[in-house]
Amino acid sequence: MKKILVATEKPFAPAAVAQIKEIVEAAGYSLSLLEKYSSPHELNAAVADVNALIVRSDKVSAEVVAAANELQIVVRAGAGFDNLDLEACTSKNVVAMNTPGQNSNAVAELVFGMMVFQARNQFNGTAGTELRGKKLGIHAYGNVGLYVAKIAKGFGMEVYAFDPFVDDARIKADGIIPVSSVEELYSTCQYVSLHIPANDKTKKSINADLLDKMPEGAVLINTARKEVIDEEGVVALMEKRADFAYLSDIAPDNMAVFEEKFPGRFFFTPKKMGAQTSEANINAGVAAANQIVKFFKNGDETFRVNK
Ligand code: 3PG
Repeated sequence: MKKILVATEKPFAPAAVAQIKEIVEAAGYSLSLLEKYSSPHELNAAVADVNALIVRSDKVSAEVVAAANELQIVVRAGAGFDNLDLEACTSKNVVAMNTPGQNSNAVAELVFGMMVFQARNQFNGTAGTELRGKKLGIHAYGNVGLYVAKIAKGFGMEVYAFDPFVDDARIKADGIIPVSSVEELYSTCQYVSLHIPANDKTKKSINADLLDKMPEGAVLINTARKEVIDEEGVVALMEKRADFAYLSDIAPDNMAVFEEKFPGRFFFTPKKMGAQTSEANINAGVAAANQIVKFFKNGDETFRVNK
């Protein structure tokens, strides 16, 4: 009998776990859970005899892969798979997958929760501003960017997008204005929402020079990854520009500096919360479970991210 492990330092909603269990058991497999673990050693121990692994942002390092003697497939229930050591998976013949799009709406809604919070001066009682009529730049027009665009139009924002991997015609078809460079996006838009993955090309790419191009009252919203931000650059820019605010679903390493120097101009969720809705957990968890069943039953490798 195949053994499936759900290892989530930040657990799924109980309803999602129940549905994953149902799918796994209906396929004739067994499910075990490792939730809220505090050390990677616990994960190393838990993977020893499992055939499939479902994780969220949990680090599936070379050590984890090495410790998983029977592992055939790991599915990151979510979009970004920068937490998986793909080389280690490939060299051990382990298939790695993600579940793109399944938690995108949840992330997009959080973008607007944070934007309204900041536009209303963090609800401090003073007169804030509205989003209607303001320019929003979407940096990378993937699944989350698409939902952000739809919601932004509902707010009456003027929406721009930059994505070198997406045809302008497709962006235009959604009523969004494509721009041809990051510089153009940042110099045009008061609000910029980041949706780029963290990889060698994007790490620390959001720097002071780029951000300084943003117009008066600039607000950067990061629900992507903290690694794409040049944190020192952001601090330097916020020291120079009192009108700049930074909202992030991922607390930066230098959080104490923000607390000391920029009160009212930042907001960081205590834990990555973008995908933390019951709906997103169910969508991503169920997709992961179904992908594993299809892989074992039919050899289906749709959504494989390693070669
Ligand atoms: C993703 O890449 O899917 C999101 O960042 C969500 O990550 P999480 O599952 O750890 O909340």
